[in-house]
Amino acid sequence: MKRIIICCLICFASHYLLAQEGKQLYKTYCAGCHGARLQGNSATKLIKTSWIYGRGRGAMFRNIKFGIPNAEMPAWHTVLNDDQINGVVDFIVAAQKTPPDAVRPLPENVKTEDYTLKVDKVVTAGIETPWGIEFVDARHALITENKGAIRWMVDGVLDPTPVQGLPVTDTRATGGYMDIALDPAYADNGWVYLAYSQYKNNQTEEDVPAMTKIVRGKIKDHQWKNQQTLFEVPDSLLVVKGNRWGCRMLFDKAGYLYFTIGDMAQAEASQDVGKAQGKVYRINPDGSIPKDNPYAGQKGALQAIYTIGNRNVEGIDQSPVTGEIWATEHGPMGGDELNVLKKGANYGWPVITFGIDYSGEIVSEKTAQAGMEQPITYWTPSIAVCPIEFSTSPLFPDWKNNLLVGALAFEELRRLVIEGDKVVKQEMILKDYGRVRDIKTSPDGAVYVLLNKPDMVIRITPQREQ
Ligand code: HEC
Repeated sequence: MKRIIICCLICFASHYLLAQEGKQLYKTYCAGCHGARLQGNSATKLIKTSWIYGRGRGAMFRNIKFGIPNAEMPAWHTVLNDDQINGVVDFIVAAQKTPPDAVRPLPENVKTEDYTLKVDKVVTAGIETPWGIEFVDARHALITENKGAIRWMVDGVLDPTPVQGLPVTDTRATGGYMDIALDPAYADNGWVYLAYSQYKNNQTEEDVPAMTKIVRGKIKDHQWKNQQTLFEVPDSLLVVKGNRWGCRMLFDKAGYLYFTIGDMAQAEASQDVGKAQGKVYRINPDGSIPKDNPYAGQKGALQAIYTIGNRNVEGIDQSPVTGEIWATEHGPMGGDELNVLKKGANYGWPVITFGIDYSGEIVSEKTAQAGMEQPITYWTPSIAVCPIEFSTSPLFPDWKNNLLVGALAFEELRRLVIEGDKVVKQEMILKDYGRVRDIKTSPDGAVYVLLNKPDMVIRITPQREQ
């Protein structure tokens, strides 16, 4: 009897440990596509009763181990051994009864090292996958919604009428509307810059080629007008079934417009200056090419290129201290990066990387090579790093010139303390309240954060002393 009890205990304990390990493995390898809480993301949710590829432990084990061909579900046997896969299965099975950490309600106050923060839920309804936000002034902001909309937010209230007459997009393969930017002289000229995925002739068939496109227009009385195309590639450079489109935009202090395009699932193209994938670009506000662009005048190269070898840059800002352009880059599995962008430099993807591919394939044995830049820091496992903003808000003097960093899969808002070009400290500000898509400081000094799943706009200010 005693022996049976001990056996049971060992068995229970080992299952418990496996499930615990399974939870960790899930976070590292699966959450990016299936959601941190198994709620689904780019791939199907994993808490449900109707399974597409077979229900029960056996089917689940098989699907994980060998992957699902034609569905972009990687085979994991090169990364995880059978015990580990069983641990993940245990975790998924257990989660059917008690879903892990259902979306936690945002607290009203968050204590950090320097401030007790007041967190206001500004917009909680009526907004769908907000992607980019820009403040026209302290009262008015423009927000892109991924599905292809631009909305006004006035005094923290979402205007129910979206802007009309905008370009058509398609949200396939994580595409859609991405970032929005305002001309440095917006008050005088009204130019609004928009990045989105453009399918050829707006066709909807499966194999239609596409690419990220940059336009500008003016918004008057909820109407998009005077549209001009600033960057698009010729048909020969469009990509079929691409994904990872970028696209963040930034105007630097000199008035150049930077924008980013991911590798569109074609890693090698990131090293080819004749292709659009895997680059950061720099243009003048009217779309013309700055004379000192690194490839200006070089035959066969895209003239707008600023840096190459960038897997997918989704955060970009200019350092208020050095004037350098900093950017975050989504790694493959592991190897999210923070880089300082130097004109004409090569950031190495996919020749050097700190990550491995989601298929479990080694992308490259190399993490360094002459002529290729090293990141300032990197995150493994990938936090799915997204927006960055240097803090210059007068409301947060203790955070002066710190870098705020948001993450999608890991649902984080971090504060990085930077000295020179080193990250000397990271503090977690928010964790597990939703995917952090964009961060912008309003002219009144409040920090606004766009969350996805749940879709929300929140405002962060330091709480007044009583
Ligand atoms: C690169 C994205 C990606 C990653 C990472 C990923 N999956 Fe999947 N997974 C998919 C896709 C795509 C499908 C097919 C269903 C769909 O279209 O969403 C799928 C299907 C599945 C299914 C079958 C679901 C059903 O309804 O039958 C299971 C189970 C599963 N994944 C588990 C996992 C586990 C466990 C991990 C981590 C070890 C993981 N996946 C990592 C993309 C991914």
